[in-house]
Amino acid sequence: MAIVSTFARNPLADQLVGNDLRLARREGPPAPALNFDYAATTPPLRSVHRAVERFLAIYGSVHRGAGLKSQAASAAYEEARAIVGRFVGARPGQHQVIFTRNTTEAFNLLARRLKFRPDQVVLTTELEHHANDLPWRAVAPVVHVRATATGALDLDHYAALLQRYSGRVRLVAVTGASNVTGHMPPIHELAVLAHAHGAEIAVDAAQLVAHRQLDLGDLNDPAHLDYVALSGHKLYAPYGAGALIGRADTFALGAPMLVGGGSVRRVTSRIVDWADGPAREEAGTPNAVGAIALAAACLALQEVGFAWLSAHETALTSYALAQLARVPGLWIYGDCDPDQADTRLGVIPFCLDQFDPHLVAAMLSYEAGIAVRSGSFCAQPYVRRLLAREEAGCDVGQLGLVRASIGLATSKQEIDSLVATLHAIARGDFDGLYVYDQVTKGYHPHGWNQQYNLSFFEQATPLAA
Ligand code: ALA
Repeated sequence: MAIVSTFARNPLADQLVGNDLRLARREGPPAPALNFDYAATTPPLRSVHRAVERFLAIYGSVHRGAGLKSQAASAAYEEARAIVGRFVGARPGQHQVIFTRNTTEAFNLLARRLKFRPDQVVLTTELEHHANDLPWRAVAPVVHVRATATGALDLDHYAALLQRYSGRVRLVAVTGASNVTGHMPPIHELAVLAHAHGAEIAVDAAQLVAHRQLDLGDLNDPAHLDYVALSGHKLYAPYGAGALIGRADTFALGAPMLVGGGSVRRVTSRIVDWADGPAREEAGTPNAVGAIALAAACLALQEVGFAWLSAHETALTSYALAQLARVPGLWIYGDCDPDQADTRLGVIPFCLDQFDPHLVAAMLSYEAGIAVRSGSFCAQPYVRRLLAREEAGCDVGQLGLVRASIGLATSKQEIDSLVATLHAIARGDFDGLYVYDQVTKGYHPHGWNQQYNLSFFEQATPLAA
């Protein structure tokens, strides 16, 4: 596969807040912060931050005030809703955009709003983040579609389970892209089959939407998606908002998950008449700042373009897979074929023989300013399944991997730094230099005593005498 657009220095790096940060390390001068943790969360785009600042100047009570600022803020909030809807192809009249805190809240909300017959089940998968598994367990029996040994969704098992529970599957709940391996199940094919068996389909798009275009589709198309959930913090808009976008008819009747101000039309001491539309699901003063940020991020990503974003990510993922495979003792989980990089996201889980994954993550950070995540990524059944693969593995006796993930500002040079530091770890260059801290439950270099500079709190109090 040709390596294109990998850039020694990615021009989009300047578009991220904090891109010029330098970090203290065990030895040597501060290092540029290298982010390989986009799968966990993303820094804000500068354009998102600017949109938030402009909005704050007109900020007022959303849908609760007569003042002009309140009206302007309300209009901006509803425009944000329309932008987020268009971003995922919501059809006016068919779909509703409900602002939530994040994907987790979105699925908790949906779980509470779906009606289940006593014999109905939810079909989810072993690949899921806990957010797309535990909310369903709270309301219905849950059946899991298997992951294959290499972390793909087992499509035969999916078809077999739909057959076995035919007529009883209320909902198929599946990820659009795994936050552990970047695997992308064929969601529209899954939708066709789900609908043929009388089920609806909900897609966890938290990991997907910053990387690939998503289209819910018309409700009359058998390949349509009934619900998608996403989080601003994985979309370069970490201001505390996410969204559930789904078929409006589901939310037309019944009581919402959260009840209180704003969700009602009329209340007497005996009667509660719920509001229509998304207001019913959004009790309490909403996070308008988060909604504006989320919409600004959607617009910014559309402007960069998903053709560019996915080509860039594919090239870098292919390069990273090839380079990581050369590190002695390093095992990549999921699909590790550089030539298949266009079929998945740049989320790469691995382990290093004889090394605790948390130690590897700490060494990357303290030696080279590289941020990754280690552990089981809120997806324990999936990580367990991946680790059960017999021909791969680093047996350090615990459930955990290291995960490096690529985002819009990643460069080839950053991947080279990651790989070079992993070579040094594998050689044993830092052996004996780290201790496990029982208090923080993490590793750090001997004698490390970092004091964080928290002066931004003081700078944020201009009213102090
Ligand atoms: N869901 C986030 C992750 O994958 C936090 O790390």
